[in-house]
Amino acid sequence: MDRRNYPIGVFDSGVGGLSVWKELVAILPNESVIYFADNANCPYGPRKQDEIEKLASDVVDFLISKNCKLIIVACNTATASAIDFLRSKYSVPFIGMEPAVKPAALNSKTKSIAVLATEGTFNGKLYHDTSNKYAKDVELNIKVGDKLVEIVEKGLINEPETKNHIAALVKPLIEKKIDHLVLGCTHYPFLIDILKEALPSDIIIVDPAPAVIMQAQRVINLNDLSKKDDSKPNYSFYSSGNSKVLRLMLKEITDSEYEITEL
Ligand code: DGL
Repeated sequence: MDRRNYPIGVFDSGVGGLSVWKELVAILPNESVIYFADNANCPYGPRKQDEIEKLASDVVDFLISKNCKLIIVACNTATASAIDFLRSKYSVPFIGMEPAVKPAALNSKTKSIAVLATEGTFNGKLYHDTSNKYAKDVELNIKVGDKLVEIVEKGLINEPETKNHIAALVKPLIEKKIDHLVLGCTHYPFLIDILKEALPSDIIIVDPAPAVIMQAQRVINLNDLSKKDDSKPNYSFYSSGNSKVLRLMLKEITDSEYEITEL
């Protein structure tokens, strides 16, 4: 088979990467995609770098065994901790997530912005390099999204405590007069309605997923990897743990039922 007709692999520690998958299938509707949720090992955020490298590498081995032609690391934490390692180990092209500090800093009028991400993302070299490069002229406030990944993974998004928890989390950022809040974790777009409620309406919430998929599109074109046949794209889903929330989220964002294989 022509390699160009092989699928794109997407993975995350859990369901968060579906916020990236959704953009991918909207922007590249002809491509087949395999999504892997490493629910059994979620969250990645508090883990050490070598642990995340090992977990990410195991997922990549699986995606390569399924012939993925390109892999999107739809997890800021895994990108921060493991993308250099993955790029040195495998020849398949990788696209990673990066908190969108640059557009937020460039467009900020109050010269105060914030990034919400996991501990693992803030500890990574990538985050330091990006913020040093692009956030020199703004006050950059960072906030660890304590418990937010777990809230999404446990399907607790609409619980009343979630609202209170998020309101308390963003309060100090509002006090810093931020005008942009960058979502630095792919789980957080699923909390966007609650974040909007908790924030003054003039604060812009920045989700980097569309920009990441545009970058994937450029890499696909550059490497002549674009799908060539007109067959219907195939979407498959794998989970290393319990797939219940993955199923619910997929139903919510696509309004369709998909088969999910639990490994
Ligand atoms: N979606 C992952 C990210 O973007 C969640 C991290 C975690 O598992 O802690 O960072």
